Amino acid sequence: MNLLLKSPAATRKLGLELGKAIEPGDFIGLTGDLGTGKTFLVKAIAEGANVPEPATSPTFALVNVYGGRLRLQHLDLYRLTGPAELFALGFDDLLAEDAATVCEWADRAAEALPEDRLDIALEHAGATSRKARLTATGPRGERLLRAGTSP
Ligand SMILES: Nc1ncnc2c1ncn2[C@@H]1O[C@H](COP(=O)(O)OP(=O)(O)O)[C@@H](O)[C@H]1O
Ligand SMILES: [Mg+2]
Repeated sequence: MNLLLKSPAATRKLGLELGKAIEPGDFIGLTGDLGTGKTFLVKAIAEGANVPEPATSPTFALVNVYGGRLRLQHLDLYRLTGPAELFALGFDDLLAEDAATVCEWADRAAEALPEDRLDIALEHAGATSRKARLTATGPRGERLLRAGTSP
């Protein structure tokens, strides 16, 4: 499913809808160049999920955890150096938590991603517009995709 997000408000709306629908065990993998809106989308997902703290970019920590309606894990793998560090981070343990996970630069953990997820690939499409390609890889992903794209 392809979306044209013509403004930050459109991206925020997508995030809010995803956040309302997200459940423990769900995984959303975000890919796209710097500045395409991955962190912006995570903030809106956190807002929609009604988790109190803003989901700022966990650039140094690699993972930030927010509590509220549910436990929301925000990962940013931009600085990931390789599989050894992914292991050190306890990626598999994080996925086993009773939590929902949103992961920036998910392609850097391609081998370790859960089978059932929603992938969102963001692309620049102008100063304030972005293209989003949403791909569900299982029933959880499908549920999120429907929530994010139903009018
Ligand atoms: N349609 C849009 N959707 C999302 N962000 C947008 C859009 N148009 C402009 N922006 C801006 O792009 C920037 C995206 O930054 P950020 O979310 O940190 O990117 P990333 O995490 O992908 O590196 C923000 O400053 C945001 O305001
Ligand atoms: Mg970011």
